Amino acid sequence: MSIHKEVKRVTTHVLQAMKARGEKITMLTAYDYSMARILDEAGVDVLLVGDSASNVMAGHETTLPITLDQMIYHASSVVRAVRRALVVVDMPFGSYQGNSRKALESAIRIMKESGAHAVKLEGGSEIAESVARILSAGVPVMGHLGLTPQSIYKFGTYKVRAREEEEAEKLKQDAQLLEELGCFALVLEKIPAALGKEVSERLHIPTIGIGAGRHTDGQVLVTHDLLGITKDFQPRFLRRYLELFDTIKGATQQYIQDVRSGDFPNENEQY
Ligand code: KIV
Repeated sequence: MSIHKEVKRVTTHVLQAMKARGEKITMLTAYDYSMARILDEAGVDVLLVGDSASNVMAGHETTLPITLDQMIYHASSVVRAVRRALVVVDMPFGSYQGNSRKALESAIRIMKESGAHAVKLEGGSEIAESVARILSAGVPVMGHLGLTPQSIYKFGTYKVRAREEEEAEKLKQDAQLLEELGCFALVLEKIPAALGKEVSERLHIPTIGIGAGRHTDGQVLVTHDLLGITKDFQPRFLRRYLELFDTIKGATQQYIQDVRSGDFPNENEQY
């Protein structure tokens, strides 16, 4: 008999049922075992192995440099920690755009080598063929529209997207298309709240917003932003629940002082 209590896993169907019941979905990023374990135990529904690991973990300015191998490494660390949450992995830049065969190969590598449950791709009609091909292999796909950071050099800025009618119209069509193709959920990043509401009401699949207002079916944040580990990133949509940069820095300074003064280790901290 297992000593572990049976935990009901979150699946794509559970998320669909949550939308139907009007229950909000929670999603956070995770890139490593220890953090994923805490977030999963806390009860978050979805853990996103985001390509924001490129910024947060590796210190790159954009999400473009992170590789498929690196994403698989992060994802398998997260999967080993998780008992309940659905684990979704970002397909990195260059692993799916413009070549649906390569997209399928990349998605299969992620699923086989990491043990994750789904993948996320950025974009709409431009990547429809890749999305369809991945779905045809039975791999669940989460879409991502609005501010799509892998296209930062096309946009030129990280400002709010789809304020203008033309871009908002394209986003609505893309959202519809991704639902029709069979995506199980859709991330909406940094768009006006009214547009987030309209898209969420029109779609049957759940929407998960980041800077898309309060009417999306769920919310996602980068965990390191929420915990205040990243210090300088302060967009309006971000609510910080801790200031861990300062807390960790303070603890480290105390440790340095204790070692230097001979206070650590004391008699009880030795053999
Ligand atoms: O990579 C990431 O962290 C993301 C979220 C911001 C949605 O895509």
